[in-house]
Amino acid sequence: MSERILMSQASVSEIEERYVVDALRSGWVAPLGPHVDAFEREIAERVGVEHALALSSGTAALHLALIHLGARPGTKVVLSSMTFAATANAVVYTGAEPVFVDVRPDDGNVDVELMLHAIRTLQDEGEDVVAAIPVDLFGRACDYTALEAGLAGLGVPLLEDAAESLGAHVDGHPAGSFGTAAALSFNGNKIMTTSGGGMLLSDDAGLIAHARKLSTQSREPVPWYEHTEIGYNYRLSNILAALGRGQLKRLDDMIARRRQIRDRYAEAFADLPLRFLGRDADRGDANDNCWLTTVVVDPTWDEERLPHTLVEERGTSLETNSPTPADEIVATMSAQNIEVRHLWKPMHLQPVFSEARSFTTGASDDLFMRGVTLPSGPALTDDQIDRVIASFASVVA
Ligand SMILES: Cc1ncc(COP(=O)(O)O)c(C=O)c1O
Repeated sequence: MSERILMSQASVSEIEERYVVDALRSGWVAPLGPHVDAFEREIAERVGVEHALALSSGTAALHLALIHLGARPGTKVVLSSMTFAATANAVVYTGAEPVFVDVRPDDGNVDVELMLHAIRTLQDEGEDVVAAIPVDLFGRACDYTALEAGLAGLGVPLLEDAAESLGAHVDGHPAGSFGTAAALSFNGNKIMTTSGGGMLLSDDAGLIAHARKLSTQSREPVPWYEHTEIGYNYRLSNILAALGRGQLKRLDDMIARRRQIRDRYAEAFADLPLRFLGRDADRGDANDNCWLTTVVVDPTWDEERLPHTLVEERGTSLETNSPTPADEIVATMSAQNIEVRHLWKPMHLQPVFSEARSFTTGASDDLFMRGVTLPSGPALTDDQIDRVIASFASVVA
């Protein structure tokens, strides 16, 4: 059997090695130290925000921001349904209720009009909506121009889930710089990694100071251990921050390589019945970080079944008994030792959220059935890309 091709394997060089060795030799092996401080400054500078807090995960960043924004039992948080479970889990940790909103069919990012409609509906019912979380899917930032204005009008803070989009832009503004706060992830398969880690970004010094305190078990600034609120152990280690600083030096090169890989797929698949998620939308994909190349096959498959108009409350029900086009691609390519994955299964279809409220159109159901993410990591060799192309083309053709 040929060697396994992974979807988003990290690329680590001697630059990272030098940073990590420096951290080890310095004796700073705790979840604080000079590399943590420098990593926070460098990411804040890169994204163009005032303050940054390095944390043990992106989930932790979302969780602490939500606590600061007042998420608690009896409140609601409205978020994109097409996301990794971490976004919704962070809401549930606070006791607030997640309310899911469907996405745009062209790029999988939240349907802005529908998100605003959902919030208005909830507010009209007297609900306390404490935050809205759009998710920058697979490295493409949302349409923040319309969303920021709409949310400001409704008085709802925007928390950007930029876990997948570091390095992307909208109209020259970096992903991670929108709204009241943003969360980044440095998980192992992301655009850059600290093996595990995340960061909370904001221009609001008070928000970051509160989150910093919460992340260190909410210790009060007195000589003994004094606590007036429940805290968490969420800080990032100095060793991992050193790894992150090395990765940040290489971020632009890694994005360029991912873009090159996407361009090769686009050229090779030009005649196949598929579209690239995001790539053919109004804004093109020049502003994306190209984290994962995502294709949606068979553009005419079963579209009549999916109305793409508002289906309020529960979503469409997916018939999961017969294999979808995405199932077939994943099964066939996995058998050839190539890691290809389904898009995130929408949160409104997850058994664990079966009681949650949702505002759906069928768009994310459709993307889930017909979309797959292709191997996209910067360490892929040209031979490996050729293997992916040949395998994918034979399944889809
Ligand atoms: C959209 C999204 N949100 C949140 C997270 C959570 O980040 P982490 O794994 O660092 O907790 C991830 C990735 O893992 C993600 O893809």
